[in-house]
Amino acid sequence: MTTRSGVRPGVVGEQDVVDVWNSGRRKLHVLDGALVTHQAREAAERLGVVLVPGPPPEPTVPATDGTATMRRALYRRNPKWVASDRPKGLAPRTLRKLVVVGAGGVGANTAHLVANAGLAHEIVLVDVVPGAAEATALDLEHASGITGSASRITGGTSLGLVEDADVVVITAGRPRQPGMTRADLITVNGRVVAQVSEAVRDHAPEAIVVVVTNPLDEMTSVALESTQFPRERVVGMAGTLDSSRFRRSLARAAGVDPLDVDAFTLGSHGDEMVPVVSSATIKGRPLHTVLSAAQVEACVADTVTGGGQVVALRKTGSATLAPAHAVVEVLDAIRGARAGAIPVSVRLEGEYGIDGVVVGVPCLLGAEGVLEIVELSLADSERQALVAAAEAVRSRLA
Ligand code: LAC
Repeated sequence: MTTRSGVRPGVVGEQDVVDVWNSGRRKLHVLDGALVTHQAREAAERLGVVLVPGPPPEPTVPATDGTATMRRALYRRNPKWVASDRPKGLAPRTLRKLVVVGAGGVGANTAHLVANAGLAHEIVLVDVVPGAAEATALDLEHASGITGSASRITGGTSLGLVEDADVVVITAGRPRQPGMTRADLITVNGRVVAQVSEAVRDHAPEAIVVVVTNPLDEMTSVALESTQFPRERVVGMAGTLDSSRFRRSLARAAGVDPLDVDAFTLGSHGDEMVPVVSSATIKGRPLHTVLSAAQVEACVADTVTGGGQVVALRKTGSATLAPAHAVVEVLDAIRGARAGAIPVSVRLEGEYGIDGVVVGVPCLLGAEGVLEIVELSLADSERQALVAAAEAVRSRLA
């Protein structure tokens, strides 16, 4: 048995390595003079557990208030945490058929990540531009002789290709150009998303729909109406992207690794985004103990404008790589490959005091889509900002 801090005195065997891996840690500290068996070394290599000589650094004991405790239970991203209730032995499912509608930057990169990690048996790309989806599918399959990816990847123009998908990711639509807000795309992309959603309703009635097209919350709402699916099976991907940007921004400001930061965003994927400062931590410590108020404010602004910064630089479209990773985070939650809640856009029906509008909140996801909407305790100002975001989305749809 290892101790909770992953220190092993005496003899280190295979089971010690497996225990560390099962508890979500990736480092096993081996005390001076301890014997590490051959099987333990093999297991460490196989599971990616690093054997570190010497005792671990003194753990910092984070201040515990209700919000921090809840947040730590939900966001166990930092391998240094020793979480007592981490579900052991996650058994991720491989998606049977993933359809990505829209083979532009986000769609192609999503397919690429999914194929390389073997997250789906079948990946189908659909795009209105003749040849575009087929070309990307073939290009990706050509890499399989090197990557060894067993995913079968095909492409086409017909929306009928969504047939029988278990998950459909909708990225189709026009991206932003410099000077545009996401909301400027509401009419043109609303038509596209409605059309795709109707095909999903008709051909893949059991699918979970993940909307990526902007304006995200409004398009998720359109998809929900057009599919007539229960709200559990129509979610928008934005919170995982915005949260990643927030963590990156805080990490840069504090000079630490992004994994040392625990933070997430709620609200709309737009100007009313709510990066949650009250419960964010850097190395387990509240933001105000590490950064000045001005630094925190700058990180919040950097997060809210993150997508726009990429648009301004690129001039011909929006971000593609981080959004694709953020889609994969949602797919991983659906597959049961990650523990804890992640922020996604979902129609609220009274949660957070908001009713009948789609906005980003933390959700537990699984094979049936949203399993639970998690109501975190927020600072009053954050709760008000979340309500304001919801009202802004509602008025833009009206
Ligand atoms: C962004 C776009 C994809 O935030 O909305 O980068």
